[in-house]
Amino acid sequence: MLPKIPPEILRLYQPLSPWESFYLRARWRLCPFMSIEALLPPGGKVLDFGCGYGMLSNLISLRAPSRHVQGVDLNRNRIAVAKRSAIDRDNIDFYLGDVNDLMVETFDAVVMTDVMHHLSDQDSRIILRKISSCLRPGGLLVILDVDRRPFWKFFFTYLVDRCLNPRSTLHYRSSKRMITLLKQFSFAVKGIVPVHEGLPLSDVIYIGELESSSPSSQ
Ligand SMILES: C[S@@+](CC[C@H](N)C(=O)[O-])C[C@H]1O[C@@H](n2cnc3c(N)ncnc32)[C@H](O)[C@@H]1O
Repeated sequence: MLPKIPPEILRLYQPLSPWESFYLRARWRLCPFMSIEALLPPGGKVLDFGCGYGMLSNLISLRAPSRHVQGVDLNRNRIAVAKRSAIDRDNIDFYLGDVNDLMVETFDAVVMTDVMHHLSDQDSRIILRKISSCLRPGGLLVILDVDRRPFWKFFFTYLVDRCLNPRSTLHYRSSKRMITLLKQFSFAVKGIVPVHEGLPLSDVIYIGELESSSPSSQ
């Protein structure tokens, strides 16, 4: 049985349009947000890059008041909904923007869920470079993204993505390619967790830790 969106998260988003209501419920059931939240430090600054409607940001903020969460996304409508969901808490902020609008501050952890396959190789390099420069040494980068295996799950994921993003170019990477990319930006890969069991999608969680000797921390 896939998990239902918890009432304390759903409550934050009322009222929702029928499409948003369907999308948020489906997204929660298909994404291991609880597992990702559990990987993060219990306090400190967390960036949710490409946060969409901000459900994961809200979960991270609600689970530990000593965390401060920033959600960033370039979709104006999603950020407007996310901002509405967070009006009565001061440990969370949402910003409209992309990598060029990112912070001069230091984060303890960064999460990116299903964002990497929306980024070209060039953009993903720019973003990983920026993230490695704004994470503290030893800070965590947790990425959820589509793997190319098992093939039938990858194919199903591709069909869903195509329906939701008919005009976008999508950039799927194998886990081998993702690991190479992370290492290029001084992330030690601490874990690769397939999360497709019981789901028709081929998602994997990558857990990266910024090495203390990264160029940006020197
Ligand atoms: C599949 S959605 C995932 C949203 C959210 N992370 C989640 O798990 O529900 C991908 C999101 O990435 C955002 N995105 C893509 N490229 C971006 C960029 N360069 N800067 C900021 N956000 C971006 C999109 O606007 C979209 O909301």
